[in-house]
Amino acid sequence: MGTTSLWWVLILYVVFTRSSWDNVAHGLGCNWGSRVSHPLPANIVVKMLKENGFDKVKLFEAEAEALKALGNSDIQVMVGIPNDMLAGMASSVQTAVNWVSANVSAYISKYGTDIRYVAVGNEPFLKTYNGSFLQVTFPALQNVQAALIKAGLGRQVKVTVPLNADVYQSDTGLPSGGNFRADIIDLMLSIIKFLSDNGAPLTINIYPFLSLYADPNFPIDYAFFSNGSAAAPPAVVDGSISYTNVLDANFDTLISALEKNGFGSMPVIVGEVGWPTDGNTNANVENARRFNQGLMNRVISGQGTPKRPAQPDIYLFALIDEDMKSIDPGSFERHWGLFYYDGTVKYQLDMGGGRALVAARGVKYKARQWCVMAPQASLSDPSLPGSVAYACTYADCTSLGYESSCSRLDARSNVSYAFNMYYQTMDQRQGSCSFNGLSAVTTIDPSEEGCRFEIMIDTGNHEGAAPSPKASSSRGTKFNMGLAFVVVLALMVWS
Ligand SMILES: *[C@@H]1O[C@H](CO)[C@@H](O)[C@H](O)[C@H]1NC(C)=O
Ligand SMILES: *[C@@H]1O[C@H](CO)[C@@H](O)[C@H](O)[C@H]1NC(C)=O
Ligand SMILES: *[C@@H]1O[C@H](CO)[C@@H](O)[C@H](O)[C@H]1NC(C)=O
Ligand SMILES: *[C@@H]1O[C@H](CO)[C@@H](O)[C@H](O)[C@H]1NC(C)=O
Repeated sequence: MGTTSLWWVLILYVVFTRSSWDNVAHGLGCNWGSRVSHPLPANIVVKMLKENGFDKVKLFEAEAEALKALGNSDIQVMVGIPNDMLAGMASSVQTAVNWVSANVSAYISKYGTDIRYVAVGNEPFLKTYNGSFLQVTFPALQNVQAALIKAGLGRQVKVTVPLNADVYQSDTGLPSGGNFRADIIDLMLSIIKFLSDNGAPLTINIYPFLSLYADPNFPIDYAFFSNGSAAAPPAVVDGSISYTNVLDANFDTLISALEKNGFGSMPVIVGEVGWPTDGNTNANVENARRFNQGLMNRVISGQGTPKRPAQPDIYLFALIDEDMKSIDPGSFERHWGLFYYDGTVKYQLDMGGGRALVAARGVKYKARQWCVMAPQASLSDPSLPGSVAYACTYADCTSLGYESSCSRLDARSNVSYAFNMYYQTMDQRQGSCSFNGLSAVTTIDPSEEGCRFEIMIDTGNHEGAAPSPKASSSRGTKFNMGLAFVVVLALMVWS
């Protein structure tokens, strides 16, 4: 009798804890980029990933510190090969073998890093590359696949190619009219067949923000998920399907393209999707929260698109801001993070079951001091424009741009912002707040409503791996409390 009751309690415990986890995101990934002047230590980032419920991460290259820190973390890893390495991989299997050995096998065997995918290239068929990678991507993919098999990793690690959504289009303007771009359709089909033959997925990056950015007439609500409010977004009617957001429509355009060419059951991963918070009129915290919360709600509910009801794996772009990213596509490029450069939360999201985003822990900062325009300096000083231009060449001034978070500063504060970004980027070094006598160091925070005057993180002085008292996640805490409850209950039933 006692034993049976104990089993019942255990079963109830499993059911109880399972259902209480069901409204928490599963299969949530993010992109961890490294084009930053001041990287957060990898072990702090890995802790942050875990505390925020990410169980997948995508790296743009095989960064040693990141891959080591991800060892035995229970986080699945997609590791990228940059486009400029594709030609080498394409021309020699040995190059691919060496890469796999140094950048995949070694981390799996020495550190227990759970590498699941190798991303061969990054959006190599973007039109802006003028076809530079058209010839090399497929042979590189084949050689990397051969190298993985040779390393005995053929089953465990899959190849893929993260592609921009412009590799397909729709002749009718509707998702059902989807097909691959005419100039690359043969290449696309060869790649897809190869991936399919090797049990590997296709990876696609989809950006509703860029649809809006590219077309001023784009209906803004269609960029976001419908949330049941009275002002429902416009719908695109495609046969029996009504699309209320461009992400679904775009994804299903790809699914139609795959179906049309005989690959209707090809697995697809969303390699990048997100919304920036600065650097453009539509890039702000309000829109980013609206988009990413809508996306999170989808992830939590496990809902896919009309044509693919099962949800694909999704990698949010991005975890943290990257202040050294190229701004050729636009100033917003440096502001895609859910978190600022220092791992602080930009805006809150419900990550499922009421769980909120948690900031990185153990981050150390430089002294609380800022570089500003000196009180006695004059705005008409002839060396001022040159000084500001110099500061903004080496530091990130994108928040000063038109309709960005610091665009409403007055002229003096504007100069101060530029000087401070330079000073912080240079680690507050002696002489980095001089600008021809036009600047001065202050300990009074010059930040204004909506515009942060940063202090840079102290990259040489973090807490390192030392576990902080709050290191155990809320999930861990819940588990322990639940277990204690069961033990007490079991003892009661037993006696
Ligand atoms: C491993 O990856 C890194 C980062 O992309 C690269 O610099 C290095 O050359 C790679 N190693 C080999 C042996 O290819
Ligand atoms: C592509 O071509 C354009 C126009 O000819 C040029 O401005 C650009 O630099 C080229 N880009 C690359 C990556 O070659
Ligand atoms: C809900 O949608 C409306 C318009 O469709 C939008 O203005 C509002 O911000 C959305 N709310 C959330 C929480 O996404
Ligand atoms: C502020 O500085 C930026 C970068 O130098 C410049 O583009 C902008 O015009 C300035 N705005 C004002 C109001 O001075």
